[in-house]
Amino acid sequence: MENAKERLAQAVKETEEIVYSYLPAEEGHQKTIFEAMNYSVKAGGKRLRPILMREVYRLFGGQGKEIEPLMAAIEMIHTSSLIHDDLPCMDNDEYRRGKKTTWVAYGYDMAVLAGDALLIYAIETAAKAFAMTPDAAKVGRCIQILSEKTGIYGMIGGQTVDVELTNQPIPKDKLDFIYRLKTGALLEASMVIGAVMAGASEAECGTVERMAAAIGLAFQIQDDILDVTSTAEELGKPVHSDEKNNKVTYVTLFGTEKAAEQVEELSEKAIDLLKSLNKNNEFLYLLIEKLINRRK
Ligand code: IPE
Ligand code: IPE
Ligand code: MG
Ligand code: MG
Ligand code: MG
Repeated sequence: MENAKERLAQAVKETEEIVYSYLPAEEGHQKTIFEAMNYSVKAGGKRLRPILMREVYRLFGGQGKEIEPLMAAIEMIHTSSLIHDDLPCMDNDEYRRGKKTTWVAYGYDMAVLAGDALLIYAIETAAKAFAMTPDAAKVGRCIQILSEKTGIYGMIGGQTVDVELTNQPIPKDKLDFIYRLKTGALLEASMVIGAVMAGASEAECGTVERMAAAIGLAFQIQDDILDVTSTAEELGKPVHSDEKNNKVTYVTLFGTEKAAEQVEELSEKAIDLLKSLNKNNEFLYLLIEKLINRRK
């Protein structure tokens, strides 16, 4: 595709404008929480989840602004998961998105609150889509998907097992469970919500969910690889965080080369599933390829 880089930069810019427009004003007695929330969301990041959501929405013919509060919501939830993931009681990391982590910048107490705040503010934000669509039922369904994929059957469930099994051997099937939940679930939510909001059929939503699951697993394996092969400058977060925390990852289980092969296989699977939908969105193909072969 021509100007792929520019197209991606443009998508990031548009997405940030949308997400930022839903952030709270920094005023009032509880100003500190607003500042901590906004600091964490505005620190940067690839904005993959909202971008993927909108591209799947477009894939199924979606055109409205009704998708925007949901784009903001998924980025808020993702950011909340990062704030808590970095806490001293979890991965104990001091850099994220090229800046000090929220707990370093605002204190442990405020970081816990900012993570909580973003999580629930995401739902408040998503609910704004009700007034922006003639089909309110689909917004209800998306809020259900958002909650389920974030909670105990999704990201939080995955983080639970990840944290609990730190310092312990983990067999592949359990590691896959962790990855499917801690990372895959929010990517599934992003893409399925795009499909639901555009009115895709049940079968199509199922295919999108399987595609997102493959992308999610590949994405986390690549994250493991980058943790040992990249630099803090490039990643914007510390390298060797997994080793520091004595974590079992795809890299410790299989080695970098075999892990990279799995990423390759999973991305092919995702591309095949996308093709099976028989819909055209060149940018989505490009995104999938890019995020799997990413360097940060
Ligand atoms: C980091 O996600 C956490 C994982 C699931 C590996 P991203 O790599 O998407 O982080 P940002 O949003 O670009 O900072
Ligand atoms: C965490 O995985 C995924 C989340 C749900 C936040 P990691 O702990 O590997 O993510 P990074 O490497 O800190 O971004
Ligand atoms: Mg972690
Ligand atoms: Mg971490
Ligand atoms: Mg990691």
